Amino acid sequence: MTKRVAVLTGGGDAPGLNAVIRAIVRSAEREYNYEVIGFKDGFKGVIEDKVVFLSENDVSGILPKGGTILGTTNRDNPFDFPVGNGRTEDKSQECIDTIRKYADSLIVIGGDGTLSIGNKLYKMGLPVVGCPKTIDNDLRIKNSTTFGFDTAYAYATEALDRLHSTAESHHRIVCLEVMGRNAGWIALHAGIAGGADVILIPEIPFNYEKIIEKINERLSRNKKFSLIVVAEGAVPEGGNMIYQNQHSDDVPLRLGGIGNVIAQNLEKMTEREARAIVLGHLQRGGSPTAHDRILATRYGTAAMNLTAQEKYGNVVSLDNGMVVPVPLSEATNGIKTVEKNNELVKTARSIGISFGD
Ligand code: F6P
Repeated sequence: MTKRVAVLTGGGDAPGLNAVIRAIVRSAEREYNYEVIGFKDGFKGVIEDKVVFLSENDVSGILPKGGTILGTTNRDNPFDFPVGNGRTEDKSQECIDTIRKYADSLIVIGGDGTLSIGNKLYKMGLPVVGCPKTIDNDLRIKNSTTFGFDTAYAYATEALDRLHSTAESHHRIVCLEVMGRNAGWIALHAGIAGGADVILIPEIPFNYEKIIEKINERLSRNKKFSLIVVAEGAVPEGGNMIYQNQHSDDVPLRLGGIGNVIAQNLEKMTEREARAIVLGHLQRGGSPTAHDRILATRYGTAAMNLTAQEKYGNVVSLDNGMVVPVPLSEATNGIKTVEKNNELVKTARSIGISFGD
């Protein structure tokens, strides 16, 4: 009998999501004679019973497309589902019943939040396989990486290249604020690839005097401009992260604004012109790089393999370049941040990049 697997994408989008969906559908049909259905807009679509059938023709042409053809949301947790007037209800069993109505199992594609929901549903008895995605690269699993990250930091690197020439022409300090939430991976990678002078990340609190030391060192070599990459979660020593909104039950906190604060403070303290640029969702939109298309395709087929082999309760992950299953509980146990003695941090320091510490 033909089996059927359901797929959904949850959390913030990441370049490569469509490549995963395509790989799942194609390998399901070609290797396993499985049917695939998709729920629209993550778990919200499960609660609202919004289903689409996905055949090979439906996923034709989506490999290079950013976003997700299924839609997504980073709200609407079925265990804490908003039902209006600030109230929430546990809709997890309803969610399982709806998935079971259409399919034998679920492949959940998402970051730590969505995979945690997948893990809880798995523990309640739903056959679940996870596929990790995040541009932040903060998947807990050691040495692993997620699709979307390469595209995000390649874009941030290109932005730095562009800012380089204008900063140099105007003799300015330019702060580029990049995403990453509580992890500094995008800033660290883009900063090295884009030749930044200072990289500020949440894991290494910064001190304005140290940043100015770097700017002055450059001035002493007649370099009248400086490029600073700031992770949105960067914090001054003894300070706090900056958010764009207030916390409420159904709206997650959004980081952002630190780049501007740093530029304004540096302008005052150095009496040199400074500008801030926030890269924001440009890092998430658009076509995935070739690297991310390949990784997403590998993850998609591996997730389908685990499903067909009934190896539920796992996420697909990378270990030494090989795709391997890792228990969902391991992948959802916190995030992976940049360690202070990370090899890339040491490399950056060796070539004179300051971390403002
Ligand atoms: O986790 C991915 C991410 O892009 C973070 O880097 C960023 O802080 C957050 O999502 C932004 O979320 P939203 O889509 O709600 O603006």
